[in-house]
Amino acid sequence: MTLTTLQAVRGMHDILPEQLRYFAHLERTVREVVESYGYEEIRMPLVESTELFKRTIGEVTDIVEKEMYTFADRNGDSLSLRPEGTAGCVRAAIENGLLHNQMQRLWYAGPMFRHERPQKGRYRQFHQVGVETFGMNGPDIDAELILLSQRLWQRLGISGVRLEINSLGSQQARAAYRQRLVEYLADHQSALDEDSLRRLHSNPLRILDSKNPAMQAVIGGAPRLLDSLDAESQDHFAQLQQLLDGAGAVYQVNPRLVRGLDYYTKTVFEWVTDRLGAQGTVCAGGRYDGLVEQLGGRPTAAAGFAMGVERLVALLEESATVAPVAPPHFYFAVVGAEAERRGVVWAEQLRSACPQLHLMVNCGGGGFKAQLKRADKSGAAFALVLGEEEARDGRIGVKPLRHELSQRDWQWQALLQALAGRSADEVERILSQH
Ligand code: HAM
Repeated sequence: MTLTTLQAVRGMHDILPEQLRYFAHLERTVREVVESYGYEEIRMPLVESTELFKRTIGEVTDIVEKEMYTFADRNGDSLSLRPEGTAGCVRAAIENGLLHNQMQRLWYAGPMFRHERPQKGRYRQFHQVGVETFGMNGPDIDAELILLSQRLWQRLGISGVRLEINSLGSQQARAAYRQRLVEYLADHQSALDEDSLRRLHSNPLRILDSKNPAMQAVIGGAPRLLDSLDAESQDHFAQLQQLLDGAGAVYQVNPRLVRGLDYYTKTVFEWVTDRLGAQGTVCAGGRYDGLVEQLGGRPTAAAGFAMGVERLVALLEESATVAPVAPPHFYFAVVGAEAERRGVVWAEQLRSACPQLHLMVNCGGGGFKAQLKRADKSGAAFALVLGEEEARDGRIGVKPLRHELSQRDWQWQALLQALAGRSADEVERILSQH
């Protein structure tokens, strides 16, 4: 019988050590930057009730209609893998009392799941870093979110991303606009493609987002949401632009930017690049002032964004060099049964004495030659060589691997004492003296 080898689920990827260096670098940098702005980390479950996403993202959005991983659990409850983090974050904030007369700046990172058609930059399991703020209704926090993301690109050395902003207005203004748009599009029905006809009554604003070249003329003639904003949203948007101008941020107002989730009000924004093909949005977000109330909380202003980690890593891989995991300082070669036993104890003693040094112990046997080959391959600066004879006499050989120096024997206790508490540089100096 031959067994077929199993493969990862389509659209879901292993992240191997070489790539993970970039992921880890990104995560470290994000943490540093968001914490420097006063944001605190929150972690939500990967699974939530399906109802949560229907009520927040919107019943007739692509995500909820077509892309969620939804299943009945053993109790028959309908659950879904989270397609994004905002809904869960709002639920968690309400449920845990984080919004009672408080302002909150929160951030999270982790996998999200959408059953989309996989292509470059679009996966079925992908990672987001998201930021959500609660209790601040002015354009100052919108500007902070945008400037924070801009600082991230700077810190990561990512260039060639541009900022697009728009305002969707209040929910009432948007509803009135939607009506006008549907009337206009209904008058031009013969010019609509299949997708747009389907959306005409369910989600007409998304038609403005269509990339179909044949649709551009009819979209170009459509009434503009920006022209029918309510006065408060207009003022909010103008103030946001002033704040961004004052901070020297470069942006473009894109009246067609509508976003694919229903919860947005007023400001929306996206950071876009041409360097990733069709999936060029690396970060997106906006204000969602009605969502907390919609989920049963008190009316609470809210705004946030999420970044696509895989897309940013793709940009990083092109432009930045990230150092590999540092090689070990020592490779501990142990040959013979007694040396192997001793080696385990001595390695632990050395780790306790020098907590900042990296030590890799040979496991899986092999003669001196084979073990020294592995030592060399590990990139270690020194091999510690322990055979049966040395083990009996309480000695150890120290062989520099990066210098033309010969091996030198030490009494184990003397070596431990000499290295205790030393930095990597000091250890290098001590062991290179002959
Ligand atoms: P979103 O636009 O659906 O917004 O996703 C945000 C980012 O996640 C996208 O710009 C993209 O970089 C990345 N992304 C989305 N889908 C995929 C995919 N299938 N494969 C790879 N990357 C993907 C949200 O999720 C909102 N929750 C953002 C937000 C937070 N708004 C307010 N707060």
